[in-house]
Amino acid sequence: MRDANPQTIYLKDYTVPEYLIHSVALNFDLDDENTRVSSRLTLSRNPASQSKDTALTLSGENMKLIRINLDDGTNPSGADLHLPEGLWAGQPRVNDLSKDQYLQTQDALIINQVPQQQRFVLTIENSINPKANTALEGLYLSSGMLCTQCEAEGFRKITYFLDRPDVMTLFTTTLVGDKDRYPVLLSNGNKVAQGELPDNRHWVTWEDPFNKPCYLFALVAGQLECVEDRFTTQSGRDIDLQIFVEKHDVDKCDHAMQSLKNAMLWDEQVYGREYDLDLYMIVAVSHFNMGAMENKGLNVFNTKFVLARPDTATDSDYEHIEGVIGHEYFHNWTGNRITCRDWFQLSLKEGFTVFRDQEFTGDRASKAVKRIEDVNMLRTRQFAEDAGPLAHPIRPDAYIEINNFYTLTVYEKGAEVVRMIHTLVGTDGFRKGSDLYFERHDGQAVTCDDFVNAMEAANNIDLSQFRRWYAQAGTPVLTVQQHYDPSAQTLTLTLSQNCPPTPGQALKEPLHIPVTVGLLNKDGSVAPCKLQAGGETSPKAPTVGSRPGRINPPLQSLLQLTQSEQVFTFENLVEQPVVSILRGFSAPVKLVMERSLDELAFLLSYDSDTFNRWEAGQQLAGQIISGLIADWQSGRDMHVSPIMVAAIQQVLEQPWDDLSYFSLLLSLPSETYLAEQMQVVDVEAIHAAREFVLLTLAEQLEAKFQALYRNNHRDESGQFDSGAIGRRRIKNTCLSYLSKLENKHIYQLSQQQFNQAKNMTDQMAALTVIVNNPHPAKQQCLDSFYHQWQAEALVIDKWFALQASSSMPEAFATVQALMQHPAFDLKNPNRVRSLIGAFSQSNPLHFHAANGQGYRFLADQIIALNTLNPQIASRMVGALTSWRRFDEGRQALIKTQLERIMTTEAISKDVYEVASKSLAQQA
Ligand code: PHE
Ligand code: ZN
Repeated sequence: MRDANPQTIYLKDYTVPEYLIHSVALNFDLDDENTRVSSRLTLSRNPASQSKDTALTLSGENMKLIRINLDDGTNPSGADLHLPEGLWAGQPRVNDLSKDQYLQTQDALIINQVPQQQRFVLTIENSINPKANTALEGLYLSSGMLCTQCEAEGFRKITYFLDRPDVMTLFTTTLVGDKDRYPVLLSNGNKVAQGELPDNRHWVTWEDPFNKPCYLFALVAGQLECVEDRFTTQSGRDIDLQIFVEKHDVDKCDHAMQSLKNAMLWDEQVYGREYDLDLYMIVAVSHFNMGAMENKGLNVFNTKFVLARPDTATDSDYEHIEGVIGHEYFHNWTGNRITCRDWFQLSLKEGFTVFRDQEFTGDRASKAVKRIEDVNMLRTRQFAEDAGPLAHPIRPDAYIEINNFYTLTVYEKGAEVVRMIHTLVGTDGFRKGSDLYFERHDGQAVTCDDFVNAMEAANNIDLSQFRRWYAQAGTPVLTVQQHYDPSAQTLTLTLSQNCPPTPGQALKEPLHIPVTVGLLNKDGSVAPCKLQAGGETSPKAPTVGSRPGRINPPLQSLLQLTQSEQVFTFENLVEQPVVSILRGFSAPVKLVMERSLDELAFLLSYDSDTFNRWEAGQQLAGQIISGLIADWQSGRDMHVSPIMVAAIQQVLEQPWDDLSYFSLLLSLPSETYLAEQMQVVDVEAIHAAREFVLLTLAEQLEAKFQALYRNNHRDESGQFDSGAIGRRRIKNTCLSYLSKLENKHIYQLSQQQFNQAKNMTDQMAALTVIVNNPHPAKQQCLDSFYHQWQAEALVIDKWFALQASSSMPEAFATVQALMQHPAFDLKNPNRVRSLIGAFSQSNPLHFHAANGQGYRFLADQIIALNTLNPQIASRMVGALTSWRRFDEGRQALIKTQLERIMTTEAISKDVYEVASKSLAQQA
C-alpha cells in the first residue's frame, strides 16, 4: 500500500553511509514458497560519516523476520552460524535481540544500540516467499527456477541490508536445497565448497573475491542444463564460460556463446580490459523485467537475449543478442569493478556501457548501419521523452521510484554524451581517459563527475561547460545559417543553440556542442574544409581527416559551439559548397537548416559521410510526407514529387557493397518519427500520407524492386555474414514495397516466401506483409505459424507483437481477442510487451483511435498490472505520457484514463510517479 504522499529522493541530500559492511555470509535454505535466509554481517561505524544518529537502519521489505543476533565480541555466541548444518537450530542463542531492542517498520529494521568503536557481527534470519513474488524483484520463481533480480533495490526484498550502491562488501553465499528440485546451485564468484546433506539435500558455497554492492548479488537454483566453452585471456588465463538454460533450449546457445567470446576479445583489444574471475556464467530466464543483468560473474538474462537458432531468431535478434551479451560483459569493468556512488549516477555505468556496446556492434557488423539504427531510436523515443512531462537530465536530481529512471535518456542519451567526449578528445585521447578512470577508481563507487575528471586530466582539456549535458534535460535545437562570399571565397556558418524548457528547468545555459562538418563541391567531390585563422572562437578545435605531414586541406572539421551563437568562416572556396553538417550525428540535437529538396537529393547521392547521406534521404522524405499530410488533412489529392521518386530510383541504380545500408537508404521515416515532427500529431494523416508514398514508389519502381528481390532471394539460412544478412534485408525491403500493390501476384510471392522460409528473418518478413494487407490467406498463415511454433515462447511473442502492431482495421478486435488466448499471460513481461506494449507503442494508428478505446484498454491493463508487477505497469503508462501532443479530443480521453489510473487502489510508487507527473504537465 502506498503512503499518502510517496517520498521524493534528492541528489542534493546525498550523504555517505553511516555504517560499513566488511563482509557478509549468506545462507539460503531454498524452497519455492518458504526460503529461509540467514545473513551474517560484519559491520562498523563509518568514520567518514558526519551523522549524529547512532542507530543502525537496514532496508528490508516484504519479509518475515525470524531472529536478530548481535555479537559485539563480549559474549562469544559459540555457534558457527554459517555452516549449513548449523542452521535453523530453532532455539534462542546467546546475543539474540529481544523485541524491545529493535524496531521493524514497513521498509526498515532499526537497531538503536550498536557498537560505535569496534566491529560487530549482526546475524539476521528471515524467510521469504519466491512463488508469491510476481514483481520479479528480489528472489522469484521463473518457469520452475529460482532466480534473483537485485538492481536497483531488490536485495532489500531478500534480507535486511544497507541496500545502496556505495556500500560494497565481500560476499560468501551458501545455497542449500533438495537435490532433485534444485540440482544446480549458483551464485557470484567461485565455487569453493560443496557437500551432501541428509534427506536428499545438498549445498554449495560460493565466494566472490571482489567487493561489490548488493545490487550485483545473484543466485540461481533449479533444473538447468549447461553449455560450456572456454576463453583464454591476453595474459594467458583460461576462463570457463557457462550458459545455463532449460533443457529444450540447449540447441539455441551457440550464438550467445560466440558473442561472449567476441565481447571478451574486443574489450581486451579496444580498452585493454581483461576478465577477472575464472568463471563467467550466464543464465537465461523466461520471466524478466528488463533485457539482462550484469551480476558479478553470474549474469541473468531475459531468454530473448540469449536463445537463437536460424529458424527461430531473426537477423536483428542475432544482432541484439550479441549487443546485449557485450553490454553485460562490458559492465564487468564499467559498472562492477567501478560502480555508482548513488542511483542518480546511473548513467555513469549505463551511458558508458551502452557507448561501449554500440561501438562493439559497429565493429562486428556495419558501423554505418549501427549508427543509423541508434540515432533512429534516439530521435524517435528519447527525443519524445525529453520533450514530455518526464524529461530529466541523464543525471537526474530527484526521483520517487528509481526503477522509473532506467530510461532512454539515462541509457541512450547518456551514451551520446560519452560519444561527444570521444569526439572531442579523439580515439587515443579517449583511451587515455578510460585508462586513467580505471586506474583511479578501481574498486570504488563513484560519480559521473569522476568520469569526466579522468577524461579532462588525461587529455589536459577543460570540460567544465560540457558538464551541463549531465545536468540539463531537453533536446537542444541547433540552427544553422550559411552565407557564401564569392569575392572573398569564404563560407560563413552561423550556429546557434537553444533548448526548450523542461519540467523544473525553465532556463537553460548554452551547452558545449561538437559539430562535425564537411563541404562538397557542386560535382559531388570533396571541397576543402579549412577554417580561417581566427575564423572560429572555440578554444581548441582539432580537425579530423587531415593527413599529417602533408599540407592537404582537411576533409572535415570539428566545430565546437559553446555560446548561444557563434560564427565559423571557411576559406579557399572557389565556388559555393554544399554543407554537410552534424556528420555522424555528432551531438544529440535537433538540427534546423533550410534545405531545398534538390540539395537533399544531392547529398543523398554524394555525401561521403554515411550517416548524413542517409539523413538527407530521411529529410527529403520527411519534407515530402509533411506536404502530403497537409494535403490529406484539407482533403486535397495527394501527389508525390518526382524528386522523391528520382532520388529513390537513383539509390536503386547504384551498386552497393553494404546491402543493409542500402536497405536503410530505401526506408522511409517511421510513423512515430514523423509524429515527432508535427505540432499536433495526426496519426491518421501520417499513416495515409506515408502509405501513399510507399504505394507510389512501389508502382513507379516495381520492376526494380522485383529484380532486386529475385537477385537477392537465395537459400542462405544459417549464414550470418554481412553479405547474407544484407541480401535478406534488401530482399525483404523490396517485398515490403511490393506488398503495397495488393495484387494476386504479390500475395502469391509473400505466401510462397512464408511457406518455404527456412529462417525466421524470411518467415517473419513474409508474415508481416501478409498480416498488414488484406491477404486472403492471412488467418491460415497465422494459424500455421502458431502451430509450428507453439513450443517456442520467443517466437510466439513475435506472433503476438505482429498482430498487435497491424495497421489493418481489425487490429484492436484482434488485440482484445488475443488477451483471452491461452498463451497470453499477464505475469510474463515478454508477453505483456509483445501484446499490450506493441499495441500501445508500435501501433499509433489504432492505439490512438479517436473513440478512446485504445486508451481505455491500456488503462485497464495498467490497473491489473499495478498489483502484479509495478515496474511493467509503469512502463506501460509510457504510451499515455505524451498526451499533450494530440488534438483536444484525444487529450481529454487520455487525461481521463490517467486520472482513472491515479485512483488505482494500492497504487504503486512506480505507476504513481509516472501518471502524476504526466498529469501535472502544463499545456
Ligand atoms: N543493469 C541492467 C543493464 O543495463 C538493466 C537492469 C536494470 C536489469 C534493472 C534489471 C533491473 O544491463
Ligand atoms: Zn547496463
